[in-house]
Amino acid sequence: MKLPVIIVNFKVYQEATGENALKLARIHDEVAAETGASIGIAVNAVDLVNVIGTVKIPVFAQHVDHTGYGSWTGKVLAEQVKAVGCYGTLLNHAEYQIGNEELEQSVKKCHELGLFVIACAETPARAAEVKKFEPDLIAVEPPDLIGGDISVSRAEPGVIVEAVKIAGQGRLLVGAGVKSGEDVKIALQLGASGVLLASGVIKADDPKKALLDIVKGLDF
Ligand code: G3P
Repeated sequence: MKLPVIIVNFKVYQEATGENALKLARIHDEVAAETGASIGIAVNAVDLVNVIGTVKIPVFAQHVDHTGYGSWTGKVLAEQVKAVGCYGTLLNHAEYQIGNEELEQSVKKCHELGLFVIACAETPARAAEVKKFEPDLIAVEPPDLIGGDISVSRAEPGVIVEAVKIAGQGRLLVGAGVKSGEDVKIALQLGASGVLLASGVIKADDPKKALLDIVKGLDF
């Protein structure tokens, strides 16, 4: 995947599930095609098949379980998301945290299947632990800022600098409260290779306009 990248997590916002997921996914696809920006979307498991059938940009699962096929109920398997055409998955999002053992097993299995893994961490210290499992990218998101109006870039620039040192160049995304091209620009200037965001696009009155503004932060 081309860096720097913008990954938009659809979560389970009503504006980003079902028919709305398709509309929003098309907007991301259009913006990627019109601007040449590297954009990925992380979509709820229920909507993956429909969204993947609709867009060309990389589609990520929001989580996969570490178990394989078998007598489990309610699990979403790496094998399944691979089979329907996912590019990769998020793991250990602040809103879906897992333990180290599970994370290690999941990263390993995803890589065996050829899935790209973005592992999340709440702090640079947690990023250091997560790094041991060798995800493709680490996304550091201070939980207090998630869903809020003040971005990690403005509120916690020191966190980005510290996290880049830990994750390494070309390995770090940052997120939480990212709403504008300026937020993206600051994150990249501090050494991040992209951003992970949600509400800045999904809750915007005009998601396409919001995404176009965010994309502007990529060329600084
Ligand atoms: O996964 C992205 C997310 O946790 C950040 O959310 O709404 O602060 O951009 P938001």
